[in-house]
Amino acid sequence: MENKKIAIIGTGNLGRALVNGLLDNQTVAPGDLFVTRRNSASLQDLADKGLTVSSDNKAVAKQSDVLILAVKPYNIQQVLEDLQDVLTENHIIISVATGVTLAELKDFSGGKPRVARAMPNIGAEVQASLTCLTLDELNEDQKIFVDKIFHVLGENVHIPENLMEAATILGACGIAFVLRFMRAMVQGGVQIGFDSKTANQIVNHTVYGAARLIMENNYHPEAAIDLVTTPKGCTIEGLNEMEHSGFSSSLIKGIVASYKNIERN
Ligand SMILES: NC(=O)c1ccc[n+]([C@@H]2O[C@H](COP(=O)([O-])OP(=O)(O)OC[C@H]3O[C@@H](n4cnc5c(N)ncnc54)[C@H](OP(=O)(O)O)[C@@H]3O)[C@@H](O)[C@H]2O)c1
Repeated sequence: MENKKIAIIGTGNLGRALVNGLLDNQTVAPGDLFVTRRNSASLQDLADKGLTVSSDNKAVAKQSDVLILAVKPYNIQQVLEDLQDVLTENHIIISVATGVTLAELKDFSGGKPRVARAMPNIGAEVQASLTCLTLDELNEDQKIFVDKIFHVLGENVHIPENLMEAATILGACGIAFVLRFMRAMVQGGVQIGFDSKTANQIVNHTVYGAARLIMENNYHPEAAIDLVTTPKGCTIEGLNEMEHSGFSSSLIKGIVASYKNIERN
């Protein structure tokens, strides 16, 4: 799979994050990278770096082996149907669009290419995404190659397709849930005496430290909580007060409500 030509169809925020990661990590040579959007003039900076920039998806698909669809979900069907007559059994199509199934990708693309799904989160912009991948249709070489592509955005987890919507809630929407928790921490910090900038700085690093602590030691969160709670101390009193007010319950309910929404729509 080395030296395959990769096309990003729909080079907006996520597409650009992919391009940056692929170039920074030298995963692909600029000459093997094709990028499209209708307003292709706005991609001139990528042309200056040696990428092929175009607004012609068909011309680009003809010259590429792997197509990453980074358009909005409502554009996927039209984009793929327009490409049907140039797509072959040798193409791999990877969609990052929420809610578009493998069966739909197969159908919209005319049935020939192998199809896969990827669900990054906005951490991709700083190469700290957790990307969930569904690669069941690909052979081992292709899986390794696609894994390498998305690895430039951060870490990957391979999941079955029936968990892709759950992955969207926990990983992609999850960023917003964590940020709302952080905002509340900042508000609490201001009430107990910090200016907002200092409270923000403390909260950001506290969350970063907590995440690193449990990831690097492979701890369950509760095991790490045990490390910082003294009997009769202020941490356990604060935690229990939060639980009396429904902290964990409200987070779990929010995740389930989001999931029900994605299932409905
Ligand atoms: N951003 C994230 O962190 C993130 C995370 C997970 C999943 N996603 C998914 O990734 C996809 C892209 O998200 P985004 O935030 O990058 O959106 P975005 O910034 O709006 O990018 C979409 C791009 O698609 C282009 N486009 C639209 N129709 C096109 C067509 N027919 N041919 C070629 N290009 C076309 C648009 O440019 P023109 O208008 O110039 O054509 C635009 O630049 C979405 O499906 C989203 O659900 C994003």
